[in-house]
Amino acid sequence: MATYDLVVIGTGPGGYVCAVRASQLGMKVAVVEKNATLGGTCLNVGCMPSKALLHASEMFEEAGHSFAKMGVSVSSPKLDLPAMMNFKQQGIDGNVKGVEFLMKKNKVDVLKGTGKIISAGKVEVSADGKSQVIETKNIVIATGSDIARLKGIEIDEKRIVSSTGALSLDKVPGKLLIVGAGVIGLELGSVWKRLGAEVVVVEFLDRILPGMDGEIAKQFQRILEKQGFAFKLGAKVTGVDTSGKTLKATVEPAAGGTAETIEADVVLVCIGRVPYTDGLGLKEAGVALDPRGRVQIDPHFATSLKGVYAIGDVVAGPMLAHKAEDEGVAVAEIIAGQAGHVNYDVIPGVVYTTPEVSSVGKTEEELKQAGVAYTVGKFPFTANGRSKVNQTTDGFVKILADAKTDRVLGVHIIGIEAGEMIHEACVLMEFGGSAEDLARTCHAHPTRSEAVKEAALAVGKRAIHM
Ligand code: FAD
Ligand code: NAI
Repeated sequence: MATYDLVVIGTGPGGYVCAVRASQLGMKVAVVEKNATLGGTCLNVGCMPSKALLHASEMFEEAGHSFAKMGVSVSSPKLDLPAMMNFKQQGIDGNVKGVEFLMKKNKVDVLKGTGKIISAGKVEVSADGKSQVIETKNIVIATGSDIARLKGIEIDEKRIVSSTGALSLDKVPGKLLIVGAGVIGLELGSVWKRLGAEVVVVEFLDRILPGMDGEIAKQFQRILEKQGFAFKLGAKVTGVDTSGKTLKATVEPAAGGTAETIEADVVLVCIGRVPYTDGLGLKEAGVALDPRGRVQIDPHFATSLKGVYAIGDVVAGPMLAHKAEDEGVAVAEIIAGQAGHVNYDVIPGVVYTTPEVSSVGKTEEELKQAGVAYTVGKFPFTANGRSKVNQTTDGFVKILADAKTDRVLGVHIIGIEAGEMIHEACVLMEFGGSAEDLARTCHAHPTRSEAVKEAALAVGKRAIHM
């Protein structure tokens, strides 16, 4: 029977990063993975394939619509979907191989099979009808999440798809009906819209992207509508008739009322994700779940069973790869006796559409609700020189600072490369910086990031270019 300091169950961004950090700290580590490849949701059916398709479809869209105005004359681009899917697969393979390499480099044993916690210190690994029990001082549960389903609507991953099926459609749907105007709906809706689908999004709430700053979400909705998205807000899909050639979705007002039918070739259900704990044996082992089915942890990631910890999508908090990674590092350090820590006030969120949307810290709604007095600085990309010359002026930067101390409490950006620009705000906020600090930091010209500096100047009502 092999004996380890740490066994990590799951090799998504939480699990594999935790294993690497634990190995760096001198532990003997194994990871258990039931999927054929390492890397979890993120690398196989999440972040990476979606970003590959977003990139490729954006190039397709640019070639068709933006080149001519810059004097680049090309014939109308033709879509080779199998080649685009192959491009996506190459990206997945490259990243998955990268994780395999990291496991080898850090001398982490990879145990293929389904992990089940027998008791503190014992993990059973089963594959192909065989099982073995591994002894370990510590266990980290990093089993991630699964798609949330709609009652009565069966996902066949062909016509009624989750994100997984929507990443692998074999032809562009004439009409794509998306249930849920969250991150997945808007990212994958963008992919298929650019490739030629008509996209209708049905959202239960009266706004898109719940949780994001309301003003940002409103402007983003307008931008997406200009791109051709149609939104049905305050509505829910209650059933899908699959008997005919086209799907017939029944759509009702969220509050109840007269139903209508929307026809579509493909329905994408993306109404959130749920923690994945199937087959882990948590109940029998005595690992408690919270009321929402997430593994319950204390501030040090410890579960109710001694020596068993949990991180990533399977615990509370935003279901984001970088949150899982940071928790992986923190828990490894805690197990090693160090002071591992995650600052949940500074976890950026990015929607990788065109333009991108990014955000860190508090929204205006959250500050209002908490009764915090704040000042707002805003700067539009229409007034940013680099954006003007590139003719990509959609969006703006919004900075929220404490009215008394000027400390930056939240930053929200819509714009090209917003997902890169947000990180200067993250660093600033980690150091408790003020809008004045940001405003007095020299920014290279001409860059889009100058709009961040100008928004910081605008907090003090002294933006230069507006
Ligand atoms: P996962 O990545 O889900 O990994 C869990 C692993 O555990 C899986 O490999 C699974 O097979 C394995 N496992 C489960 N149970 C067992 C068991 N009993 N035994 C052995 N192995 C087991 N986040 C971002 O930050 N940025 C993005 O751009 C982004 N894009 C996304 C796009 C899509 C379409 C989706 C669906 C998600 C996206 N996410 C994104 C979210 C991101 O994928 C997750 O937050 C992240 O993968 C969570 O990491 P994790 O390590 O907790 O779990
Ligand atoms: P989400 O939570 O972002 O959005 C789900 C949307 O569906 C919400 O707007 C919700 O109000 C709506 N909804 C719920 N029930 C509904 C119903 N019955 N009818 C109509 N609308 C309904 O979830 P999503 O988009 O499925 O993504 C899952 C997770 O994956 C997210 O938590 C996100 O963090 C992560 N992710 C992150 C990405 C990124 O960081 N760029 C990209 C993709 C996913």
